[in-house]
Amino acid sequence: MVNVEQFIGQSIEDIEREVRDNAIIALSGGVDSSVCAALAHRAIGDRLVPIFVDTGLMRKGEVERIRSTFGYMNPCIIDAGNRFLDALKGVVDPEEKRKTIGEMFIRVFEEAAREVGASYLIQGTIYPDQIESEGGIKSHHNVGGLPTEIEFDKIIEPLRGLYKDEVRDVARALGLPPEICERMPFPGPGLAVRIIGGVTKEKLEIVSEANAIVEEELVKEFHPWQTFAALLEKGTGVKGDRRIHGWIIAVRAVESRDGMTAAPLELPWEKLKKIEARITSEIPNVARVVYDITPKPPATIEFE
Ligand code: XMP
Repeated sequence: MVNVEQFIGQSIEDIEREVRDNAIIALSGGVDSSVCAALAHRAIGDRLVPIFVDTGLMRKGEVERIRSTFGYMNPCIIDAGNRFLDALKGVVDPEEKRKTIGEMFIRVFEEAAREVGASYLIQGTIYPDQIESEGGIKSHHNVGGLPTEIEFDKIIEPLRGLYKDEVRDVARALGLPPEICERMPFPGPGLAVRIIGGVTKEKLEIVSEANAIVEEELVKEFHPWQTFAALLEKGTGVKGDRRIHGWIIAVRAVESRDGMTAAPLELPWEKLKKIEARITSEIPNVARVVYDITPKPPATIEFE
């Protein structure tokens, strides 16, 4: 890795030189696009317009986090939750879901970009993104590598030579909040790939509540590569004094070096029991919680 300070100085200089009027960036809240936005903002200030598409498939509290962390950049936040839900109606196949979300994302982003009217697109593509999309194991919808029909004068990718851990070093040196520097990877299609089958508002609400509990209980204490909740099917349970047909939540926590393989965390039984107790008592319609002990392979990290 190059010297971090040198990398920052050079990137700012390059962006300053290359961008002659306004530039936009798709800000997702992940470490890559956040670092890119911070570099570009230092280089061109208010001539940068960060666009955050709220797909409704993000983690709980994400929009507020974006506002508080990036408010000084005056991001353009687009509430597109209903459009995504409508587009996903009846879509159950995992790859079809990814495609639907990817296409809708590009459409919403392009509409905003046209309104803003910028000739330059800045992207947070990092080195492994290019390798993964060449590999073609799964159609990754990644806001870093956004294909768009808009003719930009130039697409600028300041992080294209960096690995994830190097991006995190740059994030720390730029003074981004630890919450962002140490952030777990989060898939572009968001919670939709953590819901088995069709996506509905009810399922989204339940999985995002459960996910917030899992993150609260595990991230700080165990530093997993990734941990989250997924929503499976329904099963029978008893709550109070009556039988219910409630949702089944799966908890996933894995360690990994690069996401290509992964091993489940051997969590303390007491911790697992606490997570179960919180999820079933705080979320009314959940009847069961299971812990996924499958490594990758044969399972993938995400459920779809
Ligand atoms: P899997 O589930 O394939 O995940 O074992 C490996 C890593 O990739 C992330 N992932 C995605 N990221 N768009 C993304 O931007 C996607 O469609 C997607 N699917 C999986 C996953 O979170 C894990 O870090």
